[in-house]
Amino acid sequence: MNLCVIASGKGSNLKAIIKASEKKIIDSKVVVVISNNSGSEALQTARKNKIPAIHLSAKLFQSQSEFDSALLELLRKCKIDLVCLAGYLKKLSPRVVKSYKNKIINIHPALLPAFGGDGMFGVKVHQSVIDSGNKISGVTVHFVDEEYDKGKIILQKRINIKKNEDAVSLEKRIRRIEHKIYPKAIRLIETGKVK
Ligand code: GRF
Repeated sequence: MNLCVIASGKGSNLKAIIKASEKKIIDSKVVVVISNNSGSEALQTARKNKIPAIHLSAKLFQSQSEFDSALLELLRKCKIDLVCLAGYLKKLSPRVVKSYKNKIINIHPALLPAFGGDGMFGVKVHQSVIDSGNKISGVTVHFVDEEYDKGKIILQKRINIKKNEDAVSLEKRIRRIEHKIYPKAIRLIETGKVK
């Protein structure tokens, strides 16, 4: 499958997907990386790996509709089979989601449906989990629908929260799991085990 990764920031999950592809853990290839953030590490990683790196932000267009058209055109041109959101902090419009129904996935650093939704990103997620007194957390890969973090779940992995663990430590441990789980989810889709 031809993958498009869309990321706003660091792009450590992008790196993990590129590595999984190089090591043939997945057959799919990242053929384009898109970011709304021109200075993102994700775009730098793409360039280092000779993958087209595109800065695409709604701010560059007159309207949401024009941005959506540009994004859809790019996905079509690159013959994208699966869009992987990896720390993309914007919401895709219903038009984009409908055009790529069941072809857009996302990774979330907690066990959805809990600890998801608008504004739940970064260390905030892990702080909320710890504040809740939960003893477990984890990672979720899910299909993207019109609502934040609500689409069908593809894969989850749990971990035990350590006694007195803080949000930063939990985030670090969870991030390492994300890097294994995301390629696994892609593998499930490329092998037709998840449709
Ligand atoms: C990850 O925690 C992911 O679960 C969430 O955003 C973060 C992105 O991290 N959606 P990175 O940019 O891939 O390092």
